[in-house]
Formats: sequence, structure tokens, C-alpha cells
Amino acid sequence: MMTDLHHLTEEQRAIIATARAFADEHVRPYADQWDRAGHFEPSLVRRLGDLGFLGMLLPTEYDGLGLDARSYLLALEEIAAADASTAVMMSVHNSLPTQMLNAFGTPEQKRRFLAPMARGELLGAFALSEPDAGSDASAIRCQARRDGDDWIVEGTKAWVTSGTHAGVIIAMIRTDTPEARRRSKGISAFILTPDLPGFTVGKKEDKMGLRASPTVQLVFDGMRVPGDRMLGAEGQGFIYAMQSLEHGRLGISAQSIGIARAAFEAARAYAMERKQFGQPIAEFQGVQFKLADMATRLTAARALLHTVAAAKDRGVLVPGEVSMCKLFASEMAMWVTTQAIQVFGGYGYMKEYPVEKYFRDAKVTEIYEGTSEVQRIVIGRAVSKPQ
Ligand code: CAA
Repeated sequence: MMTDLHHLTEEQRAIIATARAFADEHVRPYADQWDRAGHFEPSLVRRLGDLGFLGMLLPTEYDGLGLDARSYLLALEEIAAADASTAVMMSVHNSLPTQMLNAFGTPEQKRRFLAPMARGELLGAFALSEPDAGSDASAIRCQARRDGDDWIVEGTKAWVTSGTHAGVIIAMIRTDTPEARRRSKGISAFILTPDLPGFTVGKKEDKMGLRASPTVQLVFDGMRVPGDRMLGAEGQGFIYAMQSLEHGRLGISAQSIGIARAAFEAARAYAMERKQFGQPIAEFQGVQFKLADMATRLTAARALLHTVAAAKDRGVLVPGEVSMCKLFASEMAMWVTTQAIQVFGGYGYMKEYPVEKYFRDAKVTEIYEGTSEVQRIVIGRAVSKPQ
């Protein structure tokens, strides 16, 4: 189901077709198996890199495709409709570490890290949250102190997507001192690599959904970080992270739409095939109304996302609107996947059928990259200012 509401260009149609063919061949057939095993498939990184899908928004100078946000989000929806775990790896990489490096990196940092990231030789991750700092992101405690030209870092990052396989992690770390805390202004961004002395990958989380996307703690135990690994200006890391999350939250919106679309399509096909009381259940108005509401919310979320993404491409984003997309699309995905289980009835609750995975995968879209409550804070602040 894809209306032409959004006036797709030939290039965008080709991107959708490429993403769909890739997902059909390399992702969809294995998604259930990876989910059960909690397996991250490393070959996907190189394959997505070969397609250009790990540098979709990057300039061609750094081996990126130099595409607009809408084209990227269309590709991401296709991948998410096949497997939400693969989609979050692609979304985090394209939206957070690569965007931060591109926006704030020196030419030398970009040459060293961005081009291999675009080619899929280095997978990117983003480390902001900590065990005691989730929604209250400026309360992070990971601490860097100067040692000559280097920084020595102590602390733990939590819930880092792709952390087991990441070759580059953009981490937000305090560079103020415990004696003179500056909340969000005391945080700097650093480019970390797993070879830094004192860097270890900690506990891998056992999750409800997105089980094929590894989520880990990162432990910094006297980690020595060369001074030239600071990204941008000292003390600006929190603001950079918030700006990058605006890309990230559009990505998670596309992921939510992909998950919901897969659930809707499964429910529709099942309703046409399943017979009760002598007829396909799709002929009962009660089921049709459910499908009608699912399709309506899905189409509304996609229309909102593409309107906001087009505004982003034109540089005319209205404050709060990215959060509106993330809030609406993630709550839509949770609702649509819940309805899909209901259409499947008892079978929907069984692992043999696909919809319970969509439901488990959808839940985290209401939590990561800012909970629904955080999105309401951002929207609430934006709309309650004098216009
Ligand atoms: N762009 C630019 N600057 C921004 C900004 C943005 N989008 N958002 C905030 N800032 C600036 C503010 O203007 C402010 O600067 P001044 O002090 O100069 O005015 C500064 O940053 C601090 O902002 P706030 O006062 O708004 O900060 P706050 O402490 O009240 O927090 C918040 C606001 C919205 C709750 C924020 O902390 C937040 O978004 N929390 C959620 C964090 C989050 O999304 N975490 C996701 C983890 S990443 C993840 O999940 C990735 C993954 O792996 C899947």
C-alpha cells in the first residue's frame, strides 16, 4: 500500500524498488530465524554499504549517495517492513554518527571515518544514555579529564544499538569538572573506536523485541582518548546530539511505519483467507472497520513524515514537528500491531505467525530516541510559545 500522495520522483521509485529487492533477498527470509536466535548478521553491513544505503545522506565526496531525507526514509521503510532490527542498525548509522561527523567533523576526521562508514566498512553507533540518565540526557556522568593532549574517560554507556559490531561510536561525555557542573553545557562529543585502551563492550541486553539488533553497555575504564578525537567544540556535545536526534527521530518514524505496514498487510491477507461462520472474516464489517482504521492511521503517519521530511530538505523545519512524527508514528505502530494480533485471533499470539514479532518490535519505537513523553515535552514547549 503506497499512495502517490507524496509525488515520488523516478529516482525515489528506483530506491524503493532496490530496497524492496534487497529486503526480499537478504533480509525477510531470515528475519524470524535471527529474531529467535538473537543473531545479528554482520554481512548485512557490507551488503547495505555496497548498495550505498549506509551513506544515503552523505555527500558523494565521502562516498555517500547525497540523497534527500525523503529518499532515505522511503528506503528505511522498506527495510523495516522486512525486519525492524536491520532497520534500526541502518537508521542509527545514517541518522546519528554519520550526520554528527558530517556536520561537526574536521576534514581529517571526515576523511578517516566518514568514507569507510558510507561504504559499510565501519558501522556507526551513538552513545548518549547511561544507566541513570535516559530521558534526562544532560544528567550523564561519564567523565573525561585531561592528561596532556589526551583525555582519560571513566563511566558506562547504556543501550547502545549495534555496540557489539560498531567501528565508530560517537559518545557524549562530560568535560566539565565534578566541582563545576554545567549540565548540558559541560558535555562534549567524542569519536571512539573499539581499539582505544580501556574500552570494552559490556553486557548484551536480552530484549523483548529487535532481538537481531545487539544492544549493549559500553564500559570506559580509564579509556585513553587522543585529543583529536573530540568532535566539534568542547561543551557542545549535548546540542549536537539533540540536533542529530532530529534526523534520528525521522528514521524511527520510518521504521515504525515499516513495522506497521508489515502488520497491516499480514492482517489483511489473513482476513481474506480465514473463514469463520461460513465466510472470510474480511467480509465482516467488524474486521473491515479494524482494517480501515489501521490503513487510515498508517497513511496519516506516512503523510506526516513525508511532509516534515520535505520541510527538513528545504531547511524550513517547524520546531516540534519532528517530535510530532516520532510520537504519532510510534504510537500508530503499537496500535496497528496490536490490532493485527486481534485480527489473527489465537494464531496472532503464536510465534508461528508473524504478527507477534511486529508487536514486540513496535514497542521500543515508543521508547528509544526519546520516549513518547519526551516527544510531548518537546512538542509542548514548541506549541506553547507565542507564535
Ligand atoms: N537543537 C538544538 N539545540 C537544542 C535542541 C535541538 N533539537 N534541543 C535542545 N537544545 C539545546 C537547548 O536550546 C538548550 O540550550 P540553551 O541552554 O543554550 O538554551 C540545551 O540544548 C539544553 O536543552 P534543554 O534545556 O531543553 O534540556 P533538558 O535537560 O530540559 O532536556 C529533553 C530536554 C528534550 C528532555 C532532552 O534531554 C531529550 O531529548 N531527552 C531524551 C534523550 C533521548 O532521546 N535519548 C535517546 C537515546 S539515543 C537512542 O535511543 C539511539 C539508539 O541507539 C536507538
